[in-house]
Amino acid sequence: MRTYTTAKDLGNLEQAVQEALSIKRNRFAFKHLGENKTCLMVFFNNSLRTRLSTQKAAMNLGMNTIVLDVNQGAWKLETERGVIMDGDKSEHLLEAIPVMGQFCDIIGVRSFARFESKKFDYEETILNQFIKYSGRPVFSMESATVHPLQAFADLITIEEYKKTKRPKVVMTWAPHPKALPQAVPNSFADFMNEADVDFVIAQPKGYELDEKFVRNAKVTYNQDEALEGADFVYAKNWSAYKDPNYGQILSKDMSWTVDTKKMALTNNAYFMHCLPVRRNMIVTDDVIESAQSLVIPEAGNREISAQVVIKRMLESL
Ligand code: CP
Repeated sequence: MRTYTTAKDLGNLEQAVQEALSIKRNRFAFKHLGENKTCLMVFFNNSLRTRLSTQKAAMNLGMNTIVLDVNQGAWKLETERGVIMDGDKSEHLLEAIPVMGQFCDIIGVRSFARFESKKFDYEETILNQFIKYSGRPVFSMESATVHPLQAFADLITIEEYKKTKRPKVVMTWAPHPKALPQAVPNSFADFMNEADVDFVIAQPKGYELDEKFVRNAKVTYNQDEALEGADFVYAKNWSAYKDPNYGQILSKDMSWTVDTKKMALTNNAYFMHCLPVRRNMIVTDDVIESAQSLVIPEAGNREISAQVVIKRMLESL
């Protein structure tokens, strides 16, 4: 595997999940693969889970790890080609990326949507420059439009907890005070479309996601209707995708917060969220603290999803 941005990069998804579950049973079985190899993790944005889980996954595989926080201690980077660099940015990404490639074997990149230009974000300009110029296998650790390590961990979690062969999975928009990217819902939709689940997206009008990710999902503007009979409730906020409102907050409607009344509409559903989560905006305290909340094991599976991806990249070196 040379790049990891979508469910399709994993090939047969069922086999990938089985591989993940097998790795989870014996995390150190492939420790020899990463000997004398280095995983570089480049962060343009903050992280708790991705930072810890990806490092742990690489270490389980016997790798050395280097974490570079671009905004803390590195030179300020220019990302646009053709710019006269007479401002505060000392180095261009076009030199910085191949230099980073000199010191590692695999690179993970976190570079969120900037909301300055939909084209810049949806062309995955930063991530694709790493793919093009690093000379190394590159995986997204949440880039402008996708978060495939999260979505794979979510799928592994659903596989572990499902009680029926084809569960009903509802991804519902929920309110948030800040404008968030569409990366998590995009990748969750990408993976659910490839998995054997009945997938529904519930959102207020104006929050329609890119068709490239929505594909065969049932889309509704009625959250209560969507939640009826759900086996898994995946709550997430995202900002508007469609023009002319790209990156904007169109609603903070607290009637979309997932609370016990909403969960009572479901088939005793499990609650999921990628974290970090704003309590009592996205989900109430009692739902996230309930026995049906999977947020901690879901986060734990980030180590496993990263390990499958890094293992496959090591095997391709
Ligand atoms: N879910 C997730 O990616 O968490 P972090 O932003 O903390 O890495």
